Amino acid sequence: MIYLDNSATTKPFPEVVDSFVTVATKYFGNPSSLHELGMKAERLLTQAREQIAAALGVKPNEIIFTSGGTEANNFAIKGVALQYRHRGNHIITTAIEHPSVSEPCQQLEQLGFEVTYLPVNENGIVTVEEVKKALRDDTILVSIMHVNNEVGSIQPVEEIGALLARYPKTIFHVDRVQGISKVPLDMKKARIDLCTMSAHKFHGLRGAGILYVRQGIQLSPLLAGGGQEMQFRSGTENVPAIVAMAKALRMSLEKYDKQIDYLLEVKQAWFNELKTIPSIQINTPFADSAPHIINFSLNGIKPEVFVHELEKRDIFVSTTSACSSKKKTPSKTLLAMGADDKRAESGIRISLSFENTLEEIPTAIAAMKEAIEKLREVTR
Ligand SMILES: Cc1ncc(COP(=O)(O)O)c(C=O)c1O
Repeated sequence: MIYLDNSATTKPFPEVVDSFVTVATKYFGNPSSLHELGMKAERLLTQAREQIAAALGVKPNEIIFTSGGTEANNFAIKGVALQYRHRGNHIITTAIEHPSVSEPCQQLEQLGFEVTYLPVNENGIVTVEEVKKALRDDTILVSIMHVNNEVGSIQPVEEIGALLARYPKTIFHVDRVQGISKVPLDMKKARIDLCTMSAHKFHGLRGAGILYVRQGIQLSPLLAGGGQEMQFRSGTENVPAIVAMAKALRMSLEKYDKQIDYLLEVKQAWFNELKTIPSIQINTPFADSAPHIINFSLNGIKPEVFVHELEKRDIFVSTTSACSSKKKTPSKTLLAMGADDKRAESGIRISLSFENTLEEIPTAIAAMKEAIEKLREVTR
């Protein structure tokens, strides 16, 4: 099997699964319970929070555990909007956000908030100037992703943070789901107030995510109830998945340190090979993109049929992004980058992890060429 769909989800590290099983079977107590079993679970939760905070260079009380990236994004956006409504009702985001950012923004528009969706350039990047132009006295939130999930473009988060330092009433949220452990980001230096991460994108398990909430920021809770997670997010914590996530984060950051040069080499080799296939148009900007995402369009071939052709050869890629791959609409990111409908409808995404190798490339490329040839004959 050649797995090239790591931006949809990653294969959990075996050590991570072992941690999950150990905690789920031996330390199954509810961390809110007063007895010994509960206290043991609580200690594990505290330890995981401390480990994650240390790995991210923030304080333990700034880490809020959620069920994943979608919840953390919804919480950040709706939590700010409802908490800070008295300050203003304007939100700035981009045209290329993940639906877990853009859909909550649309819901807020229905409640009377005003949202500006910033355009991106041909490389899928929003400029600091665009953010500056859109800022108003009543802007309460700027939400901008770190790495785009469809094409891998890296947004100028640090520069935007520096700009927003002059707007103390505006909260800065960053969706770091695709960037964590692949593209370095110092959250303090970038002056980020809220930051989303999700365990299953870095070889952890589904059901655990993180919202970094800078000390001093208040959020109206999405989930009200028992007051867990420092009153921010009620609900019994998923201790096994959270402990497993702390391990996955440590392991993936270590992999970054040891293997980033190799991953960049793999990316370069993919680009070189894809460029030799005439019917492929590469959409990812090589220089300004993450090491693990390569998007291309297939002139005249239905992308979903291509995905299934490759699957028959035990190779797994995706059409644009996993969540939109079942909807047959053109990619909004490619459209925002200026692609025409045909190009935006035929996007394919290859997404790598530190587990992928140079050796896989010739096999995968040969399979892609074969699939293209076969599908061309069918449509001829
Ligand atoms: C950029 C981005 N944000 C948020 C999410 C949602 O994360 P989750 O799958 O943990 O809900 C994804 C998932 O694909 C993503 O790519």
